[in-house]
Amino acid sequence: MRCMRPLGPSELSIYREHLLRLDAEDRRLRFGCAVDDSAIDAHVRRLRVDADRILALLDEEGSVVAAAHIARIGDLAAELAFSVDGRWRRRGLCRALFEHALSWARSRGIRRVYLAFLSENGAMRTLARDVGMSLQVNASEVLGELMLPSPTPFSVLRELAAEQAALWPAALRPFDSEADPAPAFQPAA
Ligand SMILES: CC(C)(COP(=O)(O)OP(=O)(O)OC[C@H]1O[C@@H](n2cnc3c(N)ncnc32)[C@H](O)[C@@H]1OP(=O)(O)O)[C@@H](O)C(=O)NCCC(=O)NCCS
Repeated sequence: MRCMRPLGPSELSIYREHLLRLDAEDRRLRFGCAVDDSAIDAHVRRLRVDADRILALLDEEGSVVAAAHIARIGDLAAELAFSVDGRWRRRGLCRALFEHALSWARSRGIRRVYLAFLSENGAMRTLARDVGMSLQVNASEVLGELMLPSPTPFSVLRELAAEQAALWPAALRPFDSEADPAPAFQPAA
């Protein structure tokens, strides 16, 4: 079943496979520089159980089709990074992951969230602006920053319920073309 949930430490190989499916240009946009397969292997090996969270969207076969990497910086801050499989783009998956990642971070007392992306990355610029990030442009890179409100009992409960339900985002746009190889979206029952 399609679902959205954090990956456990023993599931990082499916995150690695997702990153390896990105082509050269997507890898450059994701990591800010050219990245080969061995660098992706090293990146996944370096993930820390206590500080790195991978929030993933999984398809029916259990493959990761989109992911948010939430990297904690101390107790009060985190950096986000996103990736979506090519054939699943422009349907709102990153937007849904972004919102969920912010709610996950707020529930854990994280007060400041950062997002670094290359200045030509139109999708990330749109999304960063839409969630209210302030953007600072430094040559070819943009740094987004957002202060999160303190968690409330209600916000924590809502996030916990969302994590338990592991629901696939309900408001995705359909694919544009019938020739698209991915299956048409069916809302979760
Ligand atoms: C960037 C990326 C994560 C976006 O994923 P996505 O699921 O296609 O994004 P969404 O469908 O949620 O789109 C978000 C918004 O950006 C806009 N957008 C999407 N692709 C865009 C593009 N290439 N140029 C300009 N705007 C774009 C969408 O129109 C949408 O806005 P809307 O809802 O107002 O229409 C995906 O393209 C990707 O994985 N790229 C390679 C890796 C990367 O760049 N990672 C980011 C590093 S932090």
